Amino acid sequence: MASVRKVVFPVAGLGTRMLPATKVLPKEMLPVVDKPVVQYALEEAAESGAETFIFVTGRGKVLVEDHFDRAFELFQMLEEKGKRGQREALERALPPPGRIVYTRQQAPLGLGHAVWCARHLVGDDPFFGVILVDDLIHAPVPCLRQLVDAHQATGANVVAVMEVPPEDTAKYGIIRPGAAEGDRVAVRGFVEKPRPEEAPSRLAVVGRYVLSRRIFPILERLDVGAGGEIQLTDAMSKLLEEEPFHGLRFTGRRFDCGDRLGYLEAIVAYAMEREDLAARFHAVLRRYV
Ligand code: G1P
Repeated sequence: MASVRKVVFPVAGLGTRMLPATKVLPKEMLPVVDKPVVQYALEEAAESGAETFIFVTGRGKVLVEDHFDRAFELFQMLEEKGKRGQREALERALPPPGRIVYTRQQAPLGLGHAVWCARHLVGDDPFFGVILVDDLIHAPVPCLRQLVDAHQATGANVVAVMEVPPEDTAKYGIIRPGAAEGDRVAVRGFVEKPRPEEAPSRLAVVGRYVLSRRIFPILERLDVGAGGEIQLTDAMSKLLEEEPFHGLRFTGRRFDCGDRLGYLEAIVAYAMEREDLAARFHAVLRRYV
């Protein structure tokens, strides 16, 4: 089974849960320690074998494009000040030329519509990845890599799933689980944001997908769903009639960086992993807790 060469990053969303921080700043540019969340996402895709990074942007998101560009004045200034190491680190973090592409979602019509906007860029690749940048996942093996491995083992579509508290089902796409095999569980259905009493399980889809390109003609014909938006979950439900899906209980921790508490926890978790910061940050935290 071929690897997944292209990854789609839908980044057109407004980030209203993080206002006023996101009034001007794209939510994908919020830093966790000293790196914007979008950079973690790109690195995860690259470490999972992706070669082409497809960003579906929208109004007010040009900073995301600038972030993945060379910053000539800054690079030159670092060089002049003898900070070559820093310049080289910034240089290394850039995707190879021509490997990052941008298209615009011209209206906020939902996640399904955003993914559909990337159809011509995904082109003939039979499967592609999707990363929702807000869902930052800290994992020993990059989460998307885990999905790609599961895809290569099964040939199927794969979504990342994790157990959520019953009261939280209305925040997620929830799967109706079938037979389980190790960390993989067959998917028998999807429901977008069900109330707890209607949820078929507590296994929530979080922002990592390996999808067949056959999702695109389905998205093309889809009517608006929950919240008046074109839902990726509805398209996956239709695709499930033709092709199998697995949910992968990935190894790692997920932080919802589109939410204040999730974002704060991500900062603590990532700072405590940093050799240059952990001990001193720990001492700082002790002053507050
Ligand atoms: C989207 C998807 C949902 C998924 C969630 C994961 O919802 O529609 O199925 O569970 O991402 O973060 P959103 O968070 O955009 O409302």
